[in-house]
Formats: sequence, C-alpha cells, structure tokens
Amino acid sequence: MPLSSRHLLGLQGVPREDIQLILDTATTFREVLERPIKKVPTLQGKTIVNLFYESSTRTRISFELAQKRLSADTINFSKSGSSTSKGETFKDTVKNIEAMKVDMIIVRHESAGVPQFLTRISNANIINAGDGRHEHPTQALLDMYSIRERLGKIEGLKVCIVGNIAHSRVALSNIHGLKSMGAEVSLCGPKTMIPKGIESTGVKVIHNIDEAIANNDVLNVLRIQLERKAGSTIPSLREYHNYFGITSERLEKFNRDIVILHPGPINRGVEISSEVADGPYQIILDQVTNGVAVRMAVLYLLGTKN
Ligand code: CP
Repeated sequence: MPLSSRHLLGLQGVPREDIQLILDTATTFREVLERPIKKVPTLQGKTIVNLFYESSTRTRISFELAQKRLSADTINFSKSGSSTSKGETFKDTVKNIEAMKVDMIIVRHESAGVPQFLTRISNANIINAGDGRHEHPTQALLDMYSIRERLGKIEGLKVCIVGNIAHSRVALSNIHGLKSMGAEVSLCGPKTMIPKGIESTGVKVIHNIDEAIANNDVLNVLRIQLERKAGSTIPSLREYHNYFGITSERLEKFNRDIVILHPGPINRGVEISSEVADGPYQIILDQVTNGVAVRMAVLYLLGTKN
C-alpha cells in the first residue's frame, strides 16, 4: 500500500498504517547501510532540493546522505549566500528553483507553516525538516524506529518527553506519532516550558523528573533551546539541571532499564549530564544512524508516489 499523502508535513493526522509502512520500509534500508556498497538505484533521475533557512547538522546531512544512497541528484540551498540577502522573497526563490525542474523539496524554516505553504506554490513533493515550533516529522519517525529497534515494539510503552516542550517541534511530532502507534505519552518539565492545554492531545503532564524516571520505559530528553529564548522561562541553566537534568545518580537511584533518547544537539550538563550522554542507557547515535534509513524510506515512498 502506498502512503496516503504525497507530502510529509507533520505527523498530526497521519494514519498509523502510514507510520508503520515508513518504519517497516526503513528496516530494509537500514540493511542497505550495512553493505560494503551503500547505494541503491531507487531514485535515479529524481532531483531533490534541500532548502534550509535555519541551521542544521543532523537533519541536513542525513537527508543529503539518504538522497545519495538512493542515487537521487541533490541540490543544497542555504539562506546565507543566497539571493535572499538581495531581497528576493521566499516565494520567488522557490519558484526559481522549481523552474529548474525539481521533484522533491526538503524544507527547514524558522516559521511554522512554511512546508504547508510550499504545497500551494509548488508541484514538488514537500517534506518538512522542521518548521518553527510546529513539527519535525522525520525526527519523530527516527525516534520511533530507534525505540522499536531497542525494545521490539512501540504499542503499550510508556514514553515521557522531558524538557522544553513549549519551544519544541520534536515534542509535537513525537506526541502525534507515538500516540498513533499506541504508546502512553507523558510530558515532564517546568510549568513555564509546558504549553497550556497540551493535555488535549491526550498526554499526561508531570513536573517531577524522579516520577518520570520511575514510571517510564523511555525518556526522550529535549534540548533547552536557547536560540528560541527558552533560557528566559527558567531561573538559570544550573537550576534547570538541578531539578530536571538526567544524571547517572538519578537513573541509578531507580536501578531499572530505561532507554534515553535525545534528538541533538545536546547541551551537556544542562538537560543531560555528559556521563548519561555517553553512557549505557542512551541510544543517541543509534538515532542518528537510523535517521538515514528512515529518511531513505520517506524519500522512496514519496518519490515513487504520483
Ligand atoms: N535533531 C535535529 O533536528 O538536529 P539538527 O538541528 O542538527 O538538524
């Protein structure tokens, strides 16, 4: 069965069958990444633009690598160094790029809703690589893939998303995706970092990190997003670490198997201690490896759908 949409704008409203199909397809591509020659001809002849208006390390490199592994032609656009600095509008930029006959656009932008807008002005398949505080669907897909890889399932698991929920697009995509896949999702953080009314998405909210560690199978630890002024919602980073930081002492107090995810980039010593970030509970670099396979799956499923 093909995906139900020709775009991936977010995970809100995406059917469970679509998520399942992406994760299962990613398993096939994960195997390709272990081969000596990590390349298949699947998207030969397709042209894909990575349109990045905001900085990125993981998502950008992961998408570019996924495209190359699928034999697509890849073009990278960055806001800096482009004619945006001469006053060209976003719409004109996209129209000009599309005039060069591109098939897919991967977009990261500081404004929520830009991927949706692109579907109205472009005929290409659009994939959201993170729009403002809205969604980051491929991050949530790779998080779910990594949880399933480690624990064998998603359904029935208790997953707590910890930290700066209010400024996070990763949180919203994880909430929608995990709930569709049957996980029990909770949020943990200071009141100032939890958006009002978020319980309407079907999640429980708690404010005690020990409770989160004691009662969950998985913690997805989010970055304190200093570039989105998250620092102004807490008294200090040291105080945040004291109350909500994931440390070895806290984890060892409960002496239970727990899986720690972090989408990166990490603020070591703020939301997570260095010891935990490099320790046995975390699967942070597995997430990064799996991200390439998951993005290959999304590109393949959308790129071969009319
Ligand atoms: N996780 C994530 O989106 O990282 P980048 O901002 O480096 O792409």
